[in-house]
Amino acid sequence: MTAAALAPPTLDFTDFQKQVLVTPEDSDLFLGGGRGGGKSFAVAILMLRHAEQYGQAARMLFVRRSFPGIVDFKQTTRDVFGLVYGRAASYNAAAHVWRLPNGATLQLDQLEGHVDFGKFQGKSYSLIATDEAGQYSDPAALDLLRSCLRAPAPMRPRFILAANPGGPGHGWLVRRHVFAAPPWTPYTEAKSGRRFINCPSLFTDNPFIDQREYDSQLSAATATDPELGRAWREGDWHVARGAYFSAVLNDNVMVEPWSPDTLPRIPDAPGGDRAFMQKMAALQRAGRSWGKLYLAHDFGVSAPSVTYVVAKSPGIEGPDGRFYPRGSIVLLDEYASHEPGSLSRGMQYTVPILSDRIRELAGRWSMRPEGVADDSIFSRTGATAGSISDEFRAAGVFFAPARKGDRIPGWERMRTLLQDAGKPTSPASTFPGCASIGGRPFRPCLATLARPTTLIPALLTTPRTRADTPLSAA
Ligand SMILES: Nc1ncnc2c1ncn2[C@@H]1O[C@H](COP(=O)(O)OP(=O)(O)O)[C@@H](O)[C@H]1O
Ligand SMILES: [Mg+2]
Repeated sequence: MTAAALAPPTLDFTDFQKQVLVTPEDSDLFLGGGRGGGKSFAVAILMLRHAEQYGQAARMLFVRRSFPGIVDFKQTTRDVFGLVYGRAASYNAAAHVWRLPNGATLQLDQLEGHVDFGKFQGKSYSLIATDEAGQYSDPAALDLLRSCLRAPAPMRPRFILAANPGGPGHGWLVRRHVFAAPPWTPYTEAKSGRRFINCPSLFTDNPFIDQREYDSQLSAATATDPELGRAWREGDWHVARGAYFSAVLNDNVMVEPWSPDTLPRIPDAPGGDRAFMQKMAALQRAGRSWGKLYLAHDFGVSAPSVTYVVAKSPGIEGPDGRFYPRGSIVLLDEYASHEPGSLSRGMQYTVPILSDRIRELAGRWSMRPEGVADDSIFSRTGATAGSISDEFRAAGVFFAPARKGDRIPGWERMRTLLQDAGKPTSPASTFPGCASIGGRPFRPCLATLARPTTLIPALLTTPRTRADTPLSAA
């Protein structure tokens, strides 16, 4: 009945949006590419069509990680629904629900993380979309949300992910979607087992914006981060740094966490249990013991600091029964000081407080709190203060300079190591045992070589959390 309303002269689509509209409806969608290509608008158009197709059976849900993000999308839906339905579409601002004249509903809601998922549990939606999916550093919440996707036949429930490159979730989006198949070609996403299509767009294909103006906005917003600028402009998900290692992050590299109790080695601080010590000594004589553990630290106060517990394989099996060629690097544990919910902001801890945390970390592994740290903490900061490393020493944590080299050769070297992980003959693979960061499930995935600090912290500190820069509304 409202079919005529579907094509009012005022609602025009970009070529990208037209292409999205003709993707088979039984495929889920990943809308990627760069910024400003019309992804958010495309989500609103897909919702409009779903509503027109299914009328009151259409129950749609849109989530974003942040509340301002919801406000952005509300505006987009106002534009789109307003053009088509005028005042016949009503928005309940208290409940954040659209009710369209054909009876379809669209709920706009915040989903911060999987703890927050409870409010959707047991509900059913025929279409679920999320924008800026890269704001989720971990896809767990979105994976749970999928369980709410249900609709009676012949409806085809659909899940839509839209994302810009460079967010904290860059890594998992890359792994699951960006390079899973060539653009516009269906692929099966392993986690959900669902068929997806990756639909990229660029602002240069969007005739509805002033492209020159938009280009200069992008440049201004990424002045200090040209790589991110390129990702946003050209949709190149390779270049954003969080993705640097994505191509080599797989099950060979990421293993289940190891526990201090099952790692065969002689603890640095011999404890009471004699039988245990004798067993460990016997393993060591037999060449079956992991040796000394060390810390790898990157200092930060307003930026996060990170400390890893690192083991180097003597060429034996790990407690997981896998063989780790000699020289393999294993990240066993980590401590990162970052604000909850933000991987880019530090906790402002003083060195003594940080030292307490690091000694706790080392204590868990019965190891001496010593290792390597980024070179900058060895320079003297003031006439009286001495260096930050001196402060650490005073607090019982001992670091030597990591002698960081250039980033790119270091990253390349690490990428090679990661690539070789799991090959029985090549040394120096990497297996992190880190299951959580700041209490949230997280796998930094990386380990390293002789000079750990060159590499790992780069990953922890680079995910951008520019959730809602003015550009996200544009
Ligand atoms: N079909 C369209 N008609 C009118 N304006 C559009 C259309 N598609 C996109 N736009 C406008 O282009 C700008 C960028 O689109 P948006 O969907 O926000 O891009 P993205 O989400 O990919 O960054 C927005 O201002 C949006 O309103
Ligand atoms: Mg958008």
